[in-house]
Amino acid sequence: MSELRTDRLVLRGWRASDLDPWAAMNADPVVREYFPEVLTRAQSEASVARFQADLDRRGWGWWAVEIAATGEFIGFAGLDPVEDGMPFTGVEAGWRLARPAWGNGFATEAARAAVTHAFEELGLPEVLAVTAAGNRRSRAVMDRLGMTYDPADDFDDPEIPEGPLRRSVVYRLRSRDHRPGAL
Ligand SMILES: CC(C)(COP(=O)(O)OP(=O)(O)OC[C@H]1O[C@@H](n2cnc3c(N)ncnc32)[C@H](O)[C@@H]1OP(=O)(O)O)[C@@H](O)C(=O)NCCC(=O)NCCS
Repeated sequence: MSELRTDRLVLRGWRASDLDPWAAMNADPVVREYFPEVLTRAQSEASVARFQADLDRRGWGWWAVEIAATGEFIGFAGLDPVEDGMPFTGVEAGWRLARPAWGNGFATEAARAAVTHAFEELGLPEVLAVTAAGNRRSRAVMDRLGMTYDPADDFDDPEIPEGPLRRSVVYRLRSRDHRPGAL
């Protein structure tokens, strides 16, 4: 399994010690503001098992993110094939951090490492990112990565119940437009 390192972060496999902080952040209504519900402990545990199985099988996926200097677990970031049933296909990048870790550029730094891995190691021609239209912070990460947004790609996410969270946006980054070192 690949482990990715940046100036301040390590994207690594999941450890038993990640479970408590992972479950706590998934039970935080602010972290889950743009999802239909918060996650139970059992759902968080099941997600970690899935993520690690994917990492073991193909070497990439949703990595645990820790601060290199302290070893503190702060959330997840990585890559995953777009779910079946979406109106597009490809590999998407994603991120979710515990609230105290927001505002430090960590999501962008982790995502840039994942996207660089997608292009330079996996040879993908394009990486997507998808979020609820109102998720300003996540869209700002996409902008900082140099991704482009076309309103013509907006869609209603079939996985989200009817309501304000359903309208979703798609951002795209082509391999040739990626600037790995950009701030
Ligand atoms: C989406 C999410 C990861 C974004 O977190 P974030 O902290 O806003 O994003 P970054 O880690 O890239 O940090 C950027 C902020 O850090 C600041 N920053 C501070 N130091 C920085 C540094 N050294 N480098 C870069 N940015 C820095 C930036 O100015 C920016 O601040 P601003 O938001 O006030 O403009 C976070 O809001 C989250 O986990 N949300 C819940 C889960 C979610 O919705 N995930 C996406 C679903 S698709």
